[in-house]
Amino acid sequence: MKSYLFEIVAKDCAGRIGRLETPHGVIETPAILPVVNPFRQNVPPGELAEIGAEGLITNSYIIHRNMELRSAALEVGVHGFLGFNGPIMTDSGSYQLSQYGSLDVSSREIVEFQAAIGSDIGVPLDIPTPPDVTFSRAAGELDVTLERLREAACVERGEMLLAGTVQGSTFQELRRRAGEEASKLGFDLYPLGAVVPLMESYRYRDLVWVIVASKQGLPPAAPVHLFGAGHPMMFALAVALGCDLFDSAAYALYAKDGRYMTDRGTYHIQDLRYLPCSCPICSTHTVGELASDEGLIARHNLYVSFEEMRLVKQCTAVNHSDWIERLDRMPKSTFFYSGPESARRSEIRRFERYQTRFDLKGKVLIKEKNDTIENFSDFDYVMDFKPPFGAYPALLRETYPFNAEVTVWDHEAVLVALENVTRLIQCNPDANFTFKKPTWIPEKLIKELKKYAHNLTVQLPDNSSTTPTDSCDYE
Ligand code: GUN
Ligand code: ZN
Repeated sequence: MKSYLFEIVAKDCAGRIGRLETPHGVIETPAILPVVNPFRQNVPPGELAEIGAEGLITNSYIIHRNMELRSAALEVGVHGFLGFNGPIMTDSGSYQLSQYGSLDVSSREIVEFQAAIGSDIGVPLDIPTPPDVTFSRAAGELDVTLERLREAACVERGEMLLAGTVQGSTFQELRRRAGEEASKLGFDLYPLGAVVPLMESYRYRDLVWVIVASKQGLPPAAPVHLFGAGHPMMFALAVALGCDLFDSAAYALYAKDGRYMTDRGTYHIQDLRYLPCSCPICSTHTVGELASDEGLIARHNLYVSFEEMRLVKQCTAVNHSDWIERLDRMPKSTFFYSGPESARRSEIRRFERYQTRFDLKGKVLIKEKNDTIENFSDFDYVMDFKPPFGAYPALLRETYPFNAEVTVWDHEAVLVALENVTRLIQCNPDANFTFKKPTWIPEKLIKELKKYAHNLTVQLPDNSSTTPTDSCDYE
């Protein structure tokens, strides 16, 4: 069995641009897979790539349930059946399960069927537990879903990638557990299920918690699909939270009702006098033509959706920290140090590099900023010590980024700061450093520092503070 790969190429917030390899090509994420109904299409699948789709999703249960469709799909494969040669993901009928209560096919059978028709990404028959049910129902249904995932992981599936859907209703604890258990089994993609009711009722706070809790249970680098999220309005939020794939039925369903999407909201086509869009459809048709052809509205809706996703990707790409470092040198307002991740922020990284430019000679004093000293004139340079930076010229203390609000002085921050001080001392062998060590730095770390920095004297501060402080009220 070939193993496929998800590679992350850029990151911003929890969002990322990635490449998901499938047997029918690479999907660059974040990406929208238009939903193709095997029975009823207002845009032929063959046209989707031209409009911007890198893949599509269809429902294997609907194909399986109909004898004619089933044999056609088995004969020519799902790509030939739909007339689309890119990556095709197949859903399992879980939505129908949630509507009808039971299906005439087992999870194992539907996974085997998906593999047999040559799907690129298959999905077992998870149970989409709606929001706000009792904990025991959500937990019981999650157990069934996990059992089906376990079973699916053992099914012979050839080249097909397999998705492990995360359920758990609106219980964060269950979502997290679902993520952990699914990732132990090792899937190629992790869809988050049963979020449609949250989006339909605009419960974005709950949606965010579901995404965050599920992702907490999953490895950070695993690709995540947000099932049923097809409205461009929420792409930016979901991508920022680390969702990589989306499926859109909205483009077609909206078109059926004459609803025309824009980046600011949806118009009913009957209410439009002008077409406020320059996509290939809107620039070559009239309002009247769109009003009488849902296929044209569906195409326009797709163009708008792909455009929004490209904008989201562009924002993700340009916020890549390398780019920030190169271009974003303007002083900004304070940043907050709020835990170990912040110790690796781009500001700290940049300072690590910039401090090698200090050319210090003579006597250098490194002290905490609120450690006042009498004998300034004994020193050629006075530097402030502040985790996670290390030592910087005291004159810069109120300027960005050294004015950072440090809310947590954790071990990581102190370590990074001491590493930087060590480097500073090593880079300036002609200077003699005096470090008025804050009392709250463990002796063990100071010993390390002394080992690597020979031109250093360590003193206890004159009026040492016993706890780290970062307030401005001492001056
Ligand atoms: N489509 C929308 N929601 C879901 C879900 O929870 N599971 C599956 N398999 N498909 C979906
Ligand atoms: Zn348009």
